[in-house]
Amino acid sequence: MKIFSTASELTTALAAERAANRTIGFVPTMGALHAGHAALVRHSAAEQAVTVASIFVNPTQFNDGQDLAAYPRTPDADIQLLREYGCHYLYLPTVDDVYPAGLQDNPVAHLDFGRLTTRMEGASRPGHFAGVVQVVSRLLDIVRPHVLYMGQKDYQQVAVVRRMVDLLGLQVSVTGVPTVREADGLAMSSRNRRLNVEERRAAAKINRHLSAVAAGLRSHWPARELERLAIKGMQAVPLLEPEYVEVVDGDTLLPYQDGEPVRELVVATAVRVGAVRLIDNRIAITA
Ligand code: PAJ
Repeated sequence: MKIFSTASELTTALAAERAANRTIGFVPTMGALHAGHAALVRHSAAEQAVTVASIFVNPTQFNDGQDLAAYPRTPDADIQLLREYGCHYLYLPTVDDVYPAGLQDNPVAHLDFGRLTTRMEGASRPGHFAGVVQVVSRLLDIVRPHVLYMGQKDYQQVAVVRRMVDLLGLQVSVTGVPTVREADGLAMSSRNRRLNVEERRAAAKINRHLSAVAAGLRSHWPARELERLAIKGMQAVPLLEPEYVEVVDGDTLLPYQDGEPVRELVVATAVRVGAVRLIDNRIAITA
């Protein structure tokens, strides 16, 4: 695996791969890698000739300075994991290399995502998706991959990035990779390592409540009632503080109205567990 810290060196190396007609898969990450990230790299390595990953803790998508400061950083273990799973190129840049004109310079700030970025994570974390779109568009510009691999764990993020690709008319397809979970069902997340033993045990309950909602939806129970039950159920677990539970149309991310035809039906949640904020979702029905 070749490691580059500058966009210009990486661009030169990838131009040669493209000239040789090799397809490029790209896995953007913020590091502190785990089996969820590994699944994205494995998918790309299986499907594309060349796999590129990036590790960059993007300051513009954190609306909470403490969350940014507390974000785990494990570069040595990350590099080893990427090598193991068949990554060929790693972009490991500084903030200046990603944002040479400064953090405020966001050429995609004008894009209109409508209600895709105003609800759920968009409502809870103002400015978060503007930062995600800013960094992903910049990374795509540097890497110019054929396929972008993203995790369904961040369901809304995938929807926003797909919309960005459409709005900008970019020549890249976006593949959503299913969520990788711990044995007890907790969705893998870099933030899990900040949980203490009791919090970790409580966090495992999140997936059970989402699974119950998904099962209820498949039995045509009313969506709003299932949301309420899941909130109540999680509130009853010590240390869990649910922020939202929403049953949404997977394409628009608007609240699902019972009986309406949808391609994908999803239940998404954000839950505070002590000082850590976790998100998760389950796809209840998919076409
Ligand atoms: P990060 O949280 O590091 O996640 C990188 C990628 O791994 C994302 O596409 C995310 O959805 C995926 N991922 C995380 N946990 C997963 C799991 N348990 N199963 C499957 N995939 C999982 O998401 C980001 O970074 C950033 O917002 C980024 C897109 C890199 C832009 O800065």
